[in-house]
Amino acid sequence: MTAAPESLHEAVERRRNFAIISHPDAGKTTLTEKLLLYGGAIQQAGAVKARGEQRRVTSDWMELEKQRGISITSTVLQFDYGSTTINLLDTPGHQDFSEDTYRTLAAADNAVMLEDAAKGLEPQTRKLFEVCRMRRIPIFTFINKMDRPGREPLELLDELEAELGLVPWAVNWPIGSGDEFRGVIDRQGHRVILFDRAERGRQAREQVLSLEEVRSSGAVEEELLSRALEELELLEEAGAELEMDAVHRGELTPVFFGSAMTNFGVRPFLDAFLDLAQRPMARSSREGPVPPEHPDFSGFVFKLQANMDPRHRDRVAFVRVCSGRFEKDMTVRHARTGRSIRLSRPQKLFGQERAVLDDAYPGDVIGLNNPGMFAIGDTLYVGRQVEYEGIPCFSPELFAWLRNPNPSAFKSFRKGVNELREEGAVQILYDTDQSKRDPILAAVGQLQMEVVQHRLQSEYGVATRLEPLGFSLARWVEEGWPALDAVGRLFNCKTVSDAWNRPVLLFKNSWNLQQLQEDHPDLSLSGVAPVASGVEPIAL
Ligand code: G4P
Repeated sequence: MTAAPESLHEAVERRRNFAIISHPDAGKTTLTEKLLLYGGAIQQAGAVKARGEQRRVTSDWMELEKQRGISITSTVLQFDYGSTTINLLDTPGHQDFSEDTYRTLAAADNAVMLEDAAKGLEPQTRKLFEVCRMRRIPIFTFINKMDRPGREPLELLDELEAELGLVPWAVNWPIGSGDEFRGVIDRQGHRVILFDRAERGRQAREQVLSLEEVRSSGAVEEELLSRALEELELLEEAGAELEMDAVHRGELTPVFFGSAMTNFGVRPFLDAFLDLAQRPMARSSREGPVPPEHPDFSGFVFKLQANMDPRHRDRVAFVRVCSGRFEKDMTVRHARTGRSIRLSRPQKLFGQERAVLDDAYPGDVIGLNNPGMFAIGDTLYVGRQVEYEGIPCFSPELFAWLRNPNPSAFKSFRKGVNELREEGAVQILYDTDQSKRDPILAAVGQLQMEVVQHRLQSEYGVATRLEPLGFSLARWVEEGWPALDAVGRLFNCKTVSDAWNRPVLLFKNSWNLQQLQEDHPDLSLSGVAPVASGVEPIAL
């Protein structure tokens, strides 16, 4: 007898989707690896890094990652754990690629914020937290490296509240830290998970005892245990409750202490996280919220990646499924152009590996071969018309002319610039003077520029030169060219157009911007590009 096919509702209920945000070195790779081990998706520790090495061999533009020891790429890892299907949306580690992370977070239902216990909040974590806040997604905090001397746990919680305005709720509480780390008290289960230092090698053994058992066995020094219990009491007195609505609104963060490297506290974290995390939720569209259980398939493109595998020179669009069941060979409508497309080779992504998939459900990510048709933010749907709210761009802070000194390479230059723009590797602006048609690269971080140059060279065979423009701020004129014409000549800024022919003003500093706003209070300016819809961008 074969099992009854799974209903859409059941498929949604058992899916969880999340991204990990952290500062480089906090232990994201290590934690990811341990999560994959539990999911049986990899067989041995070290496989994620080993996979990384392999990837570097197969993809030549990752050469730059190798040279600089940074992580630029982001990927998707889907695996099952018990009856749950987990989609882990991996994000790039370097702050210059925050924009890529931002787009990935647009496809995530939950975020795990990973901190190093010795460092607490670090700059990159703060920046990425702001992105989560904009999207109001639930945030789960994992305080890592408890096996090493760290800051006071109470201080780490206070920091979350004082600096991020995020109310912390400790799910477990550490007993000691560093050399004196003995384990954690599970606050709801009233039990202690002991950290077995004898097993220090790589893997800690987790022994679970009741508080009474810990006391009577003398497994933990009385002084350490009493201090942890006193701290817990302070937390109880401080009052916050684990209110799930507040968690799901992104106002309260469940906090876990552990050590990814020794694998301590990872499984309890995963179990609690899956229990508390938000399942795939209704998403806003221009037509109103679309529940995941809506029978018609819909989804949106949150990431494009060209040349993931240089042997095929392909382009993959990452689509987050939002509603309905997606099936192979489905004919879907592309909302921006109104065209119908048959998706005959949808792919399941696992890191750099891909396999053809037969179906997918809300919360899942599918990879589609992109023959230049999809742009970031595009909606695909079946049945009734739906268009999801687009993904706005970050405000760029660095600007440079991109010169192609070799006119005979113009065709490749143009192709490369257009494709990298589509992918969102960088934003492209143009001078309003038509005779100066070289593109202006606009980026959030310097490395983005370097990646573009590197990729133009390695993937399109074009050597380019960058000439920095001395601006540091961009503002979009919200009401377009007529509003700009109406105010007449502007000083101390440069007018350019973006790839959708919308006016953008570039400023050297915030003082110049402020001056302009004082002189022209009616001119509405925006730090983020409005979402483009219905129009094709201007190609170089
Ligand atoms: P990232 O992806 O966030 O950049 O961090 P990654 O996992 O690569 O971890 C950064 C370093 O921190 C690694 O050490 C890793 O082993 C270590 N680490 C991660 N989790 C823990 C933990 O719970 N306890 C301790 N003590 N260390 C941890 P490395 O020396 O850079 O690399 P490796 O020698 O482990 O390969």
